[in-house]
Amino acid sequence: MMALKNKNNGNSDCGCDPYLLSLVEPQNPTATNKPNKSIGLVLATLTGGAAIALSVVCFPFVSPALRRVVLPYVPASTRQVDNVMKALVQNNIKGKSLIDLGSGDGRIVLAAGKKGFQSHGVELNSVLVLYSKFAAWQQRIKNATFSRQDLFKVDYTKYNNIVIFGVEEMMPELEALFEKSLTSSSQVIACRFPLPNWKPSHVIGEGIDTVWVYEV
Ligand SMILES: C[S@@+](CC[C@H](N)C(=O)[O-])C[C@H]1O[C@@H](n2cnc3c(N)ncnc32)[C@H](O)[C@@H]1O
Repeated sequence: MMALKNKNNGNSDCGCDPYLLSLVEPQNPTATNKPNKSIGLVLATLTGGAAIALSVVCFPFVSPALRRVVLPYVPASTRQVDNVMKALVQNNIKGKSLIDLGSGDGRIVLAAGKKGFQSHGVELNSVLVLYSKFAAWQQRIKNATFSRQDLFKVDYTKYNNIVIFGVEEMMPELEALFEKSLTSSSQVIACRFPLPNWKPSHVIGEGIDTVWVYEV
């Protein structure tokens, strides 16, 4: 009986080296799995949350592709913005109000606001509307405002300058709408794609930066 007793500090019944025993003995599974499980849960929550946040931010950029007229977000080049500004200063229209139909990140509205135009941008993408409002606040341009609206449903008749950077397919429909609703105290400034039938009073710039000005 005495021979079976622990010879190594009473740590083992068989008298084996406790270190060697620890290598062959099964570990307590619940004790070791717990931290792994929590790390897995945290990782799953983080990746799931990141995926949802990414979808929320990206959806406004993708949703135009689901509409009848697909008008994606393509910001105007610096030269294009300059051409629009030239059109604004050399026009014969007395009033200094402007609307940009599909204002994107607000660059045309902000540039016109800096030149003293009471400018408004309508845009479907709520992320871009928020960004534009922030830019106006940051640059202290009080006469540049923005709203989330469909350009086909907005009342643009109260503005003297109507800016549109659209796509070719939508220009005939817009032209028909302008024909019906605009009065003689306004002008349309079309960027990159002209109105199909109206005769422009000026054409400014060239290539993809061309701007067509139509006095109504
Ligand atoms: C070609 S980008 C022009 C952006 C801006 N005007 C510029 O010159 O930088 C067209 C913009 O129109 C927006 N848009 C598309 N369909 C729209 C709609 N039905 N109503 C309002 N905005 C729309 C898009 O989200 C996009 O930001």
